[in-house]
Amino acid sequence: MARKVPIYSKEKDREGLRRASRFNAQMMDHVRPYLQPGVTTAEIDRLVYGYTMEHGHTPACLGYQGFPKSICTSINEVVCHGIPGDRRLKEGDIVNVDLTTVVNGWYGDSSETFLIGEVSDEARRLVQVTFDAMWVGIHSIKPNGRVIDIGQAIYKFAHPHGLEVVREYQGHGIGREFHQEPGVPHYPTPKSARDIVKPGVCFTIEPMLNLGVWRTVKDKADGWTVRTTDGKLSAQFEHTILMTETGPEVLTLTETGPQEGHRF
Ligand code: MF3
Ligand code: CO
Ligand code: CO
Repeated sequence: MARKVPIYSKEKDREGLRRASRFNAQMMDHVRPYLQPGVTTAEIDRLVYGYTMEHGHTPACLGYQGFPKSICTSINEVVCHGIPGDRRLKEGDIVNVDLTTVVNGWYGDSSETFLIGEVSDEARRLVQVTFDAMWVGIHSIKPNGRVIDIGQAIYKFAHPHGLEVVREYQGHGIGREFHQEPGVPHYPTPKSARDIVKPGVCFTIEPMLNLGVWRTVKDKADGWTVRTTDGKLSAQFEHTILMTETGPEVLTLTETGPQEGHRF
């Protein structure tokens, strides 16, 4: 039996979702100024751990299936699940910072790719198209629409730009659990053609786009870090979204981060 898609119809549940996502976004704004040349990803991790604890919440990634840190930091050819460490960010790097917090039992999940100093034209273009692709995905869905609309829209947008869409990792339902139904692939699949986004479904859209091939490989030594197989750059953005009776509500909007339409 396939697992069911949780529906959050009660206003009290939706407030729980909103609050967790709002905190997660506020934390993204908090760490934003620190993403500069010379900082280590472990320092960003400690900042997030401290900020989360001070507010009485829980970093969802810490200990999740044995993950050793509070956040994921994915630099350059790292697609996702990079483990924070002592490497210093340098001018020209791109780094995705993926935050997830549990607030009163509700999960909020979002990520941004940051440009460190001046980056190459192709890195900037990759980040731009990935950000725009996330928004294309967000606008592709209506109440009672199909999950495949998201993957179709993102794929059709990204491919003409010469970018490949990662397949082995996808968006996900979120709420009382970190990862739940429906899976949200960023390219069309048979299952996503059957899954319906009813009002009350809460989920992420988090496309990972590559300058080269879509295939990825997981680091054998640490068991987590996912890289492109060709070593070319990868970027990602993520929002948590609640489908309401009138349309998608983006729950993880930041105050100081890139807004829809931003030019990098
Ligand atoms: N935040 C990631 C996501 O968007 C999941 C990270 S799981 C971890 O779903 F264990 F790697 F932290
Ligand atoms: Co995430
Ligand atoms: Co996610």
